[in-house]
Amino acid sequence: MILFSGTSNVPLSEAVASALGVSLGKVEITRFIDNECRVFVKDDVAGQEVFVLQSLSIVADQHLIELCLLGQALKDLGAKRVTAVIPWLGYSKQDKAFRKGEAISAHLVAKFIEAAGFDAVITTELHSENVLQFFHIPVVEISTHTFLADTLRRKSSPPATRGEALRAGLSLENVIVVSPDKGGKSRSDRFAKEVGLDIAYLEKSRDRQTGAVNITGIEGTVTGKDVVIFDDIINTGATALKTSEFVKRKGAASVYFLATHAVLAGSASIDLSRSVIDEVIVTDTISVSDDKRFDKLFIASVSSLLADAIRKQTK
Ligand code: R5P
Repeated sequence: MILFSGTSNVPLSEAVASALGVSLGKVEITRFIDNECRVFVKDDVAGQEVFVLQSLSIVADQHLIELCLLGQALKDLGAKRVTAVIPWLGYSKQDKAFRKGEAISAHLVAKFIEAAGFDAVITTELHSENVLQFFHIPVVEISTHTFLADTLRRKSSPPATRGEALRAGLSLENVIVVSPDKGGKSRSDRFAKEVGLDIAYLEKSRDRQTGAVNITGIEGTVTGKDVVIFDDIINTGATALKTSEFVKRKGAASVYFLATHAVLAGSASIDLSRSVIDEVIVTDTISVSDDKRFDKLFIASVSSLLADAIRKQTK
């Protein structure tokens, strides 16, 4: 088995390789002077089970092309099976035409990945299950619910017991899970069940043109509670900001925002660092550059989840 890494999330690739006890495959990924991508696989992969880890994070278009070029090169070299490990499947938010005339981008991305020759996909926490129908190759979707629930539990234990630099002081007894919108209801329900906590639901609307988020109501009560808002993605941060401000106005004692994918587009990091949120907890499905990190951000690594999924695939 060989694991190759694209350029989008090398730290995660290295962590997965280390969890698997292998070294990353040798590949050269460069750009021509006109910025077109060139990949050059240096390992002999003929007859091998091969994995390529690449998140379709900013800049998604470039990372997608890079992934596809890697897939094609590996297939051309005679790899037995090539699996794309895509912790964050960029474009997956565009899984339907929200307005007439919009492209269903997630569908085309699935076609690209298949056309590149990939035999299977491993991904984490899809924005919507709709995306699965666009693939004709097997897709393994890893849920991060249990993982994030464990992360939260660890945060309520004294840090010293786990050897992790976690903020102490969050007692699960006073926590309520909050779903940020209708779309996330079943996701948040599963998470609340996983940690055995009560749940409240926010009503959110978003202007499709401007992206502006508005919170219009809440079902449940958060007064005096430590609120854990559970979402799949932090993109612009608008949902995190508006929902946290809303629950604070409703009397929440503290607010934690948990999400799997930290896209952190535009000024999201600055906005979140200045927000009423006590802590933002995300995973490393997307590599967060130093300039996007802030004091209140905690990143938990999904490397062992991905390594397990890869191991299962090779059995
Ligand atoms: C919405 O349906 C998603 O679950 C997230 O709430 C959304 O993508 C977050 O985006 P933003 O950070 O831009 O509000």
